Amino acid sequence: MNILIISGSPMTKSRSSTLLDYTQRWFNEYSAVTQRVSVRDFDANVLLNVEYKHSQIQDFIQKIKRADGIIIASPVYQSSYAGILKAVLDLLPQRSFISKPVLPIMTGGTDSHQLALGYAFKPLLATLKAEEIMSGVYASDNDFKHSKGTNEYIISDKIIDQLNNNLQIFYQSMNKNKKHYPNLVFHVNSQSIVAQR
Ligand SMILES: Cc1cc2nc3c(=O)[nH]c(=O)nc-3n(C[C@H](O)[C@H](O)[C@H](O)COP(=O)(O)O)c2cc1C
Repeated sequence: MNILIISGSPMTKSRSSTLLDYTQRWFNEYSAVTQRVSVRDFDANVLLNVEYKHSQIQDFIQKIKRADGIIIASPVYQSSYAGILKAVLDLLPQRSFISKPVLPIMTGGTDSHQLALGYAFKPLLATLKAEEIMSGVYASDNDFKHSKGTNEYIISDKIIDQLNNNLQIFYQSMNKNKKHYPNLVFHVNSQSIVAQR
């Protein structure tokens, strides 16, 4: 199984990327292959000049083609997804997400822009013809604590539960397409879902 994880935050220390870290660890638990792409990986000139033939974009397209499913995260900027993420996705061919389940994740300063997930981010993913878009996870900055010791964000239990539920459905959606994945039994507790073959 091959999961592509796309980070849409331009920030080096990022709450949305912290949620992606969690999803990556979740899949690494049982040796799924995860690949990670960040908007920060792209040369700004490639994006500004719409160089869709550039090797950075072509490599990204190949990673999408190889992926069985996509997890994509964006911060909320001006009530919508980050413009830099749109600049990257603009360079993809039409229907790039066809036959892929997609799990969207957003973080915003407050809960008041929660609708950005349903009214802005999901329609963008639908335009790329994502096969099935999960309900997704929206976290506000109050859902994170900052650990001074490790300089990391700690995710609230509420958001961990939402991530676990979405990841389970996302996994099952990929399983529908590729019958050869092992059937997993999920044991849920408040912090994690443990998958067993
Ligand atoms: C340029 C900019 C614009 C933002 N606009 C909004 C906004 O419209 N609504 C909102 O709820 N939060 C807004 N925020 C706050 C971020 O969405 C929030 O802090 C988010 O968790 C950042 O995610 P990140 O750490 O992954 O970059 C904005 C932040 C920045 C830097």
